[in-house]
Amino acid sequence: MSEPAPVSVEVNGDRHLLADDGGMLLTALRDELGLRGTRAGCGVGECGACTVHVDGRPTTSCDTPLAAVADRRVTTPEGLGTPDAPHAVQEAFLSLQAAQCGYCVNGVIMTVAALAAEGAEPDDAELAAALDAHLCRCGTHPRLLQDAQQALQAGGGEEGGADPTGGRAGG
Ligand code: FES
Repeated sequence: MSEPAPVSVEVNGDRHLLADDGGMLLTALRDELGLRGTRAGCGVGECGACTVHVDGRPTTSCDTPLAAVADRRVTTPEGLGTPDAPHAVQEAFLSLQAAQCGYCVNGVIMTVAALAAEGAEPDDAELAAALDAHLCRCGTHPRLLQDAQQALQAGGGEEGGADPTGGRAGG
């Protein structure tokens, strides 16, 4: 039986040919490319930890087949900014430190960064609705929302890889 053709995907500005075994984008990012900033959480599209951008739109990578992103542009937390030059949203979350364990925060940042790129100016209720798909088991939602609102006010466009957890959230 012949091997399936590899999938061509742009990840953080670089073109990659990724082996397609029918798996999900999350696995390819973490295991093939070693991009561990994208967290593995529930695995069924319910917690938001694995959120990346696909053509600029927040997308859960755990339930997105790799084949579905062929010839598309994927951005992970590592592609948003760099440790020396973090994206404005990453910088805001780093300075405000709302997260507790930090596991969920990279996914939250990806969604907030997409809102920033759109120039969105949500009120608190609209922002809470936009982040509703992100679960935080530490219960820091109110502080995360404050950070997100301040991050949006700080501005910042698409894609500039800082890890805003400072490595606290391994895995
Ligand atoms: Fe993808 Fe939870 S790990 S949504």
